[in-house]
Amino acid sequence: MTIAHMKTFPRASLAHLPTPLEPMPRLSAHLNGPPLYVKRDDCTGLAMGGNKARQIEYYLGEALAQGADTVLITGAVQSNFVRQVAAGACKLGLNCHVQLENRVADMPAAYHESGNVLLNRIFGATIHHFPVGEDEAAADRNLEKIAREVEAAGGRPYIIPLGADHPPLGAVGYMDAAGEILDQARGMGVGIGAFVTASGSAVTHAGLLTGLRHRGCDLPVAGICVRRDAVQQSARVLARCRDLERLAGLPARITESDVWTTDAYLGPSYGKPTPQMFEAVRLAARLEGLLVDPVYTGKVFAGAIGLVRDGTFSGEKAVVVLHTGGTPALFGYAHLFEDGWDG
Ligand SMILES: Cc1ncc(COP(=O)(O)O)c(C=O)c1O
Repeated sequence: MTIAHMKTFPRASLAHLPTPLEPMPRLSAHLNGPPLYVKRDDCTGLAMGGNKARQIEYYLGEALAQGADTVLITGAVQSNFVRQVAAGACKLGLNCHVQLENRVADMPAAYHESGNVLLNRIFGATIHHFPVGEDEAAADRNLEKIAREVEAAGGRPYIIPLGADHPPLGAVGYMDAAGEILDQARGMGVGIGAFVTASGSAVTHAGLLTGLRHRGCDLPVAGICVRRDAVQQSARVLARCRDLERLAGLPARITESDVWTTDAYLGPSYGKPTPQMFEAVRLAARLEGLLVDPVYTGKVFAGAIGLVRDGTFSGEKAVVVLHTGGTPALFGYAHLFEDGWDG
């Protein structure tokens, strides 16, 4: 069984694909390391772009196939996933309930009102608040409760679950992305040496890694932890890869040695700033005209920069950094970028 014969899944067309694969010559020269490239998944189009568009194509594809009329999703207050689902639901004529978890304590008003929250309102999503921030099972249970209420009112709900105890359907989108990047690099004559991606729910990381390995590509994928420590995250990535192989009807090929995560760029916790993140936001913006966010891509770029500086990435082969989006969250975190933030 090869990837060409893997199981197929219903898919709603929501993303602008393929996204560009671009060199970052000024950042590469600044670091005096290998050529750095950026995969512009911040340009997937749907409601200001981001990685979740690829994932949502499969979730909402399944929702439509099941005859659902309402989609439910849970995430952090400034979740990009929630915002893109709210947009995708509008595009497909579905109602949308979003549950916002209070994952980051002591945040100013803009965090609760601007950025992704503002966009959720514009998309007309029904917003629920969930006070707990670090209990995936409890968040999913509450979403299930809201779904039962939707059902009682005559609706046909479809839940996009958060926890890792559900098949990682959205990761199929990143199996596709793996093929897309390999094709683009081949077409551009770029020899890739390694990939760098965010590792949060691990759906993106697992999809990319599984998509590469099942195409016979054994290049390393550095997963930059944005949510939990490397020990927990590696276990999660491996489990998600195996769940994905099972879901896709592929043989089990991913092993522990394929999974690489680092929590050196996470800082105190999810959504909390680090000095390396601030430097990455500044360098990406001022050398490449790229916007990265404080929660995900700022830490991912910090990771890519750190791994060049410590010599982990060297030589002539390209390092491809996955830009997974998240830029609307900048407005929710505006307080981090007041006068003097850049030293
Ligand atoms: C902008 C952005 N990048 C990366 C991630 C992490 O992706 P994943 O949850 O698939 O690990 C997220 C997830 O919320 C995100 O919003």
